[in-house]
Amino acid sequence: MKSLASGLFAIAALGMFLASNAAAADIKDFDAAKQLMTDKGVACVACHQLDKKAMGPSFNAIGLFYKDKADGAATLEKNIVEGVKGTWGAGMMPPQAGAKDIAADLAKWILSLNPEGDAKTAAEAEIAAMPAK
Ligand code: HEC
Repeated sequence: MKSLASGLFAIAALGMFLASNAAAADIKDFDAAKQLMTDKGVACVACHQLDKKAMGPSFNAIGLFYKDKADGAATLEKNIVEGVKGTWGAGMMPPQAGAKDIAADLAKWILSLNPEGDAKTAAEAEIAAMPAK
């Protein structure tokens, strides 16, 4: 009976794992992020692309720049909602009050981005061009 018991335990543990993952609402890719933005009616992608600079910095560059900063997630969450200027260039980001409920998830997703190859080179070039670091 030992193997049956451990089998049941494994199934219970898997169920708990799946349930907690669903609750965390992890954003899995740019499409999922865009869907969330659309659902909330916020126009992030009017100014941001995943992998190239537009009106605002690319999400790849933002992620790479804040990845190793202790307060990265909190900074991004706050600046998404309140707006920000002066970090990346002359442009300014207006406050995005509609993103309040999703700002933490978006910040977490941005920090999880891990560009490689050409995408990493492009993100590093954006970071190198920042006026203040
Ligand atoms: C009108 C254009 C515009 C819109 C809309 C916009 N942004 Fe931005 N965003 C910018 C600009 C410009 C910057 C760079 C500001 C700076 O240099 O400090 C920026 C910066 C950021 C940063 C980096 C903040 C930092 O502290 O370095 C994040 C994260 C970000 N935007 C996420 C978002 C998200 C998520 C949305 C939608 C909820 C959004 N933006 C909507 C223009 C925009």
